[in-house]
Amino acid sequence: MAARIIDIATDRDAAVTEACRVLAEGFPVAIPTETVYGLAADATNPVAVTRIYETKGRPRFNPLICHMSDLEMAERYAVFDPISRQLAEAFWPGPLTLVLPLRQGCGIHALATAGLDSVGIRVPKGFSAELIAAFGKPLAAPSANTSGKVSPTSARHVADDLGEKLRLILDGASAGVGVESTIIRVEGERLRLLRPGGLAAEDIEALTGRMVERQDGPAPAIEAPGMMASHYAPGAAVRLNAAAAEPGEALIRFAGMPLSATKAHAIFDLSPSGDLAEAAANLFDTLKRADATGAASIAVAPIPDHGLGEAINDRLFRAAAPREG
Ligand code: TXA
Ligand code: MG
Repeated sequence: MAARIIDIATDRDAAVTEACRVLAEGFPVAIPTETVYGLAADATNPVAVTRIYETKGRPRFNPLICHMSDLEMAERYAVFDPISRQLAEAFWPGPLTLVLPLRQGCGIHALATAGLDSVGIRVPKGFSAELIAAFGKPLAAPSANTSGKVSPTSARHVADDLGEKLRLILDGASAGVGVESTIIRVEGERLRLLRPGGLAAEDIEALTGRMVERQDGPAPAIEAPGMMASHYAPGAAVRLNAAAAEPGEALIRFAGMPLSATKAHAIFDLSPSGDLAEAAANLFDTLKRADATGAASIAVAPIPDHGLGEAINDRLFRAAAPREG
């Protein structure tokens, strides 16, 4: 049976009521967030959390991000240090996840945290925060896609991939940010970037006056399971930093570059004006569309590595990495 899709722009009340009903029954619901669409389930219910992994076809249990309605709710589930609280106050609701010590006995199930004594928490912007407030419990939510595939930025993406496996998809139009949240862990005086994402590390540095420590090497060393290199992979091979398209390749440009595209099978541009936020918003949809042209290979232009470019390059690097089994 195909999932019911409710458009929150036209039927907000029904979206909240129906989602709360399905969540309370222990089933996942696809929800729009400003980063990517999430596959959300009651973080305190082990059966519901298990269904997230089952629906995604995830081979193993990874710690999931637990979504809260606001900082006050988050404080009931995690212990905040002063720097983390400063970040939360400045950037929530928004594309920032904080890894914090789990409050013992708070009710988040060990299946959602992969048994760790820490928890990744974020407050999403817009409709989902409202839904969480109505539901009254945190929602564990990874991106709403089959494991290893590109993350969804529209309800259509979710329906095409998981429509047959889900009861309910909430349609909240396109995810404005387009890449997953930035994940930060504060350790004493140190701020560690566990995953670059929709909040630029420079913005965190400007607020705190502290340097954000990147992981070593071109691919971040994986702090927690679930960030395998081959995540975010389209079907076609992906070739990075392309100076030109080879015959038959789909070409993804940035700011009109590279110009030499005469041999390309199809041409896309993440942002003709060279705006990195626009490029992030278009990234996953463009990868899907380039893949759908049937080209065996996708050539991608060099992308500047500052601001949101850091998250874009991280996802592109993963898309181009050798595939897991
Ligand atoms: O934008 C996003 O963050 C999206 C939307 C749906 O909110 N969510 C998302 O969730 O990407 P998820 O569950 O796929 O992210 C899980 C990642 C893990 O792979 C790990 O890197 C990190 O979050 N994480 C979660 N809990 C952690 C913990 N306790 N310690 C370290 N890393 C953790
Ligand atoms: Mg994902």
